[in-house]
Amino acid sequence: MTVQSIGTKCECITFIAQAPNRGTAPDRKEQAMPSKLALVGIGKIARDQHIPALDANPDFDLVATASRNASVDGVTAYGDLASLLEGEPKIDCVSLCTPPMARYADARAALLAGCHVMLEKPPGATLSEVRDLEAIATEQGLSLFATWHSRHASAVAYTRDWLAERTIRKVHVDWKEDVRFWHPGQDWIWQPGGLGVFDPGINALSVLSEVMPHAIFLSSATLSFPANRDTPVAADLTFQDPNGAQITGAFDWLEQGPPKWNITIDTDAGQAVLSEGGAKLAIDGQSTDTGPHEEYPSLYRRFADLVATNAHDVDLAPLTHVADAFMMGKRNIVAPFEW
Ligand SMILES: NC(=O)c1ccc[n+]([C@@H]2O[C@H](COP(=O)([O-])OP(=O)(O)OC[C@H]3O[C@@H](n4cnc5c(N)ncnc54)[C@H](OP(=O)(O)O)[C@@H]3O)[C@@H](O)[C@H]2O)c1
Repeated sequence: MTVQSIGTKCECITFIAQAPNRGTAPDRKEQAMPSKLALVGIGKIARDQHIPALDANPDFDLVATASRNASVDGVTAYGDLASLLEGEPKIDCVSLCTPPMARYADARAALLAGCHVMLEKPPGATLSEVRDLEAIATEQGLSLFATWHSRHASAVAYTRDWLAERTIRKVHVDWKEDVRFWHPGQDWIWQPGGLGVFDPGINALSVLSEVMPHAIFLSSATLSFPANRDTPVAADLTFQDPNGAQITGAFDWLEQGPPKWNITIDTDAGQAVLSEGGAKLAIDGQSTDTGPHEEYPSLYRRFADLVATNAHDVDLAPLTHVADAFMMGKRNIVAPFEW
């Protein structure tokens, strides 16, 4: 097995693993057939993004779903993944769109059944369970893809390249949205492991850790917990940058009106403002054309590439920042939250 590093600043690694003799991982270059894929957790993101992206991607054929209360027209439906794996022995890939607390057991079962696995963000409820999944994927010679959809927003790669040639002086992240509008009735976000305001905030951290040319570390945090909930509704973060930039973030789930998903970066040679979650970029106030915005089509293209070489792509930097915030955070108790 060769191990290829694709980044030194984070824990982002791609293993190019030889397929074991089990013959579980299809060689897609020889096999022109699309991979048979199962989707687990038919909720908001599965419907809004995964199903349209799969419909448009010839590398995958959505052949089955596993969800307790939902199904997709024309696709064989199972109530849980165990029944699906038993009923569909020819599945090649499993894509998990459940909340993070429900992720590990299904991902493990899918890998042990010989399927490549794609994980929605965040890749798990804890760092250690994702590490375990990586180890299983390596052992099995299968692909594990821990996705960060915001990194596939159109302006992110351009910003990363632009920053690589500059000295960063100051970064401020504003990630503010109305939870009642964006997550109506999703009680899991308030349960332990649901991450609260870090559920959207981790998207900002995934972009920040992608565009920064070097690693940064959380140094302090203030987390505001509603008196009746187990996860924060707001968070203020400060990062330490070994190169001396001031880096702060403000996440708020009680923002009224249009969301703010912005990262402002001041450098020695101009200011970059990433907005709309990484879809738009302005440099020194001038909007910059960074190409079409297509996060989930890009994610499934990346998954197809990983599957073709039995590689995996797991970067835990964004989830590590969140874990650090929970470890370092000062806790404020604020007004109870009701839908
Ligand atoms: N919503 C977004 O805009 C968005 C965007 C990007 C990424 N994501 C990520 O995608 C994942 C799912 O988000 P979502 O918005 O699609 O959530 P959701 O609609 O609330 O949940 C997805 C589905 O997972 C199933 N499920 C299995 N175990 C569950 C549990 N313990 N609690 C609740 N549901 C459970 C449910 O289907 P059954 O009841 O049928 O089993 C549910 O409909 C999250 O990790 C989230 O961060 C969401």
